[in-house]
Amino acid sequence: MSEFTTVPMALGDRSYDIRIGSGLLGAAGAHLGPLLRAAPAIVVTDETVARHHLATLEAALRAAAIDHRTIAVAAGEESKSFAGLADLVDRILALRPERRSTLIALGGGVIGDLAGFAAAIVLRGIDFIQIPTTLLAQVDSSVGGKTGINTRHGKNLVGSFHQPRLVLADTDLLATLAPRELRAGYAEVVKYALIDDAPLFAWLEREGARVLACDSAALGHAVVASCRAKARIVADDERETGARALLNLGHTFGHALEAESGFGPALNHGEAVAAGLALAFQLSVARGLCPAADLARLRTHLTAVGLPASLAEAGDGRWDAAALWARMMQDKKVKGGRVRLILARGIGRAFIDEVIEEAEMLRLLDGTVAV
Ligand SMILES: NC(=O)c1ccc[n+]([C@@H]2O[C@H](COP(=O)([O-])OP(=O)(O)OC[C@H]3O[C@@H](n4cnc5c(N)ncnc54)[C@H](O)[C@@H]3O)[C@@H](O)[C@H]2O)c1
Ligand SMILES: [Zn+2]
Repeated sequence: MSEFTTVPMALGDRSYDIRIGSGLLGAAGAHLGPLLRAAPAIVVTDETVARHHLATLEAALRAAAIDHRTIAVAAGEESKSFAGLADLVDRILALRPERRSTLIALGGGVIGDLAGFAAAIVLRGIDFIQIPTTLLAQVDSSVGGKTGINTRHGKNLVGSFHQPRLVLADTDLLATLAPRELRAGYAEVVKYALIDDAPLFAWLEREGARVLACDSAALGHAVVASCRAKARIVADDERETGARALLNLGHTFGHALEAESGFGPALNHGEAVAAGLALAFQLSVARGLCPAADLARLRTHLTAVGLPASLAEAGDGRWDAAALWARMMQDKKVKGGRVRLILARGIGRAFIDEVIEEAEMLRLLDGTVAV
């Protein structure tokens, strides 16, 4: 078996391994075999990922005599919809799965969320395994068990908690990813560092360029550190009644920016999150909670890796404060007209703040608070 690091996701009888390393896809038979309880295993992927990586997985399964079928859906967020789910579930049922069958999600966050939700509802729940192929999926979406689809009322509004039995994160797969997609995932790594891992932030300042150049050791370090951070937080609060909200650092802003830009090509999720991280720190500084030097370090680093470091640098930079506030009020995490935000007392010291009101937010977003 190839070299890998295991990060345990501790969730009682739903615990699983996150295995991270190079060469894992080619060794998938050895990793998956012991977990498969009924034939055939059903691989769900998207057409782009299939072109790059499906042959390696299928060869590995064949070499381990693992009977499998493959379903490839169109690449892109549109597949993560009611129509996409209906089509996928139909194709899964046509393969006559049983309760002990396993679904293997080979792809980015779209495939993980869609296939994970299908696994949660087919026959009232079958096993599933994540083989994440984007940096975002390796550091974030494949871990923690949130699955679901988008509706016309918003993203991720229909779904379920359904934990995988294993996450197999092969960092080699990221070499074929578009640089902009890689940077989007990198924004989430920065997020973990800002939440509670100041040494990771210092490491990113030194080694971030190697991560983005797909250096195998650097990617491994970034993915392991991120999964450890996420696993720690999810283990404490699987269903997001408390501390899991920390993972939303930068995201209330980010989601508003994405929604306001119509989820178009001008701004992707990671870019929106990067600007959101800067805004969260900006507000923290304005409130006198966080040293200005930490905001400056964050901005310098985001700029160095090619991510937006302020609202003005996100998308076309032309944002309407009131419209962004209105988007935040639609967020599913809003309670009683107040936006719950994650703020920080410094790099690695994030906390949950319950009391952001309209006036303060508008001052921040329209630039009246200049920090
Ligand atoms: N469940 C969660 O906890 C969670 C957390 C964060 C994000 N998400 C969800 O994740 C989704 C975004 O995930 P994403 O950014 O991975 O997007 P994605 O799955 O759409 O992948 C991005 C693009 O890269 C392509 N791709 C994937 N892997 C590749 C590879 N190795 N080489 C070349 N191309 C590759 C895909 O075909 C797609 O076109 C969103 O729907 C978001 O809501 C879920
Ligand atoms: Zn995110």
